[in-house]
Amino acid sequence: MHVNDIKKKFIENFNVNPSLFRSPGRVNLIGEHTDYNDGFVLPAAIDKEIVVAISKSGSSKCKVFSVDMNESIEFTTEEIQPSSKSWANYFLGVIAQINKKGRKIEGFNCVFGGNIPLGAGLSSSAALECVFAYAFNDLFKLQFEKEEMVKMAQKAEHEYAGVKCGIMDQFASMFGKSDHVFRLDCRSLEYVYFPLKLTDYEIVLCNTKVAHSLASSEYNTRRQECETGVEILTKHYDIQSLRDVANGQLESLKKEFDPIVYKRCSYVVNEIARVIDSCEKLQSNDLIGFGQDMYQTHEGLSKNYEVSCAELDFLVDKAKESGNVIGSRMMGGGFGGCTINLVKKSEQDNFINSVSESYRKRFSIDMEAYVVNIQDGTSRI
Ligand code: GLA
Repeated sequence: MHVNDIKKKFIENFNVNPSLFRSPGRVNLIGEHTDYNDGFVLPAAIDKEIVVAISKSGSSKCKVFSVDMNESIEFTTEEIQPSSKSWANYFLGVIAQINKKGRKIEGFNCVFGGNIPLGAGLSSSAALECVFAYAFNDLFKLQFEKEEMVKMAQKAEHEYAGVKCGIMDQFASMFGKSDHVFRLDCRSLEYVYFPLKLTDYEIVLCNTKVAHSLASSEYNTRRQECETGVEILTKHYDIQSLRDVANGQLESLKKEFDPIVYKRCSYVVNEIARVIDSCEKLQSNDLIGFGQDMYQTHEGLSKNYEVSCAELDFLVDKAKESGNVIGSRMMGGGFGGCTINLVKKSEQDNFINSVSESYRKRFSIDMEAYVVNIQDGTSRI
């Protein structure tokens, strides 16, 4: 869906010129399920986005039309509550956060749509929350800083979508920078941009087309398992989260751990260390080493954290076998969605064709592939 289509649809419906805003989806090169453990992540915003056309309605009435769902919702600013239309909960959740901060929005009319595939682990929900937070902030002069908007978007997801997500997706959508990845410290929220120099390689996403239905419940369970681990560790060590834990400390307490909780914690502790290590590799242009770290992350996510699925494992195995992919792993929450692959540019078509064919044979599903470009975060158009 192009910006002009959204604008046209808005003018057809409301007869005035709207303000336009956009917010992108994201990839994450490495650092998975580390954000809610105070660890590090390495995301970037991508050239798939949600576009919002919006103007004040002049009363407390609000009308929002979702082009992709072909559905609309009407409400007033005085009655903000969760809706049975799940797509609406992302911006209703943002309005609820604004109200909690004691600031007020006025009634508005809106049309929105985008091209971030839904349920593919590319953070369409974070993009939706961020674009609305940014649009409301601009339109109603709320004077929130970007970081505050990110936190409100995350809270909207917790309270109106029921997923206890970390801060990575919303941060990436808002703070992305074209041609850069950034290492985010999810404890201090300090971040450093790195130019992404992939030379002969590029980022290709392979979408399993498996909707990650288990994702929200299992996601919250993983978070809980990490917290259980931290409770045991704090009895013996001066730590606040898995970020503070060394492998040796974890091993020393293995006997006290339920084996499942142990596996989860072991993955997280190793992954947090791996992100720091792999960022150094990226800076010294050791792409091969970086890619090997990605494969290791997948191994951990699949065997210890158990958030992969047969389809994702298959795609990573095929990538490895192809000889033209230096790094591959499942990306995001898991249980479906996409793998992220560093593919040799000259072999891109061959890789996509051959892996699509094997995937179709094995699962009778037509995989989708996206070659990704890195874009700027949330903005006014
Ligand atoms: C989802 C969550 C993020 C993060 C990833 C896993 O995308 O929204 O906060 O935890 O899963 O790394």
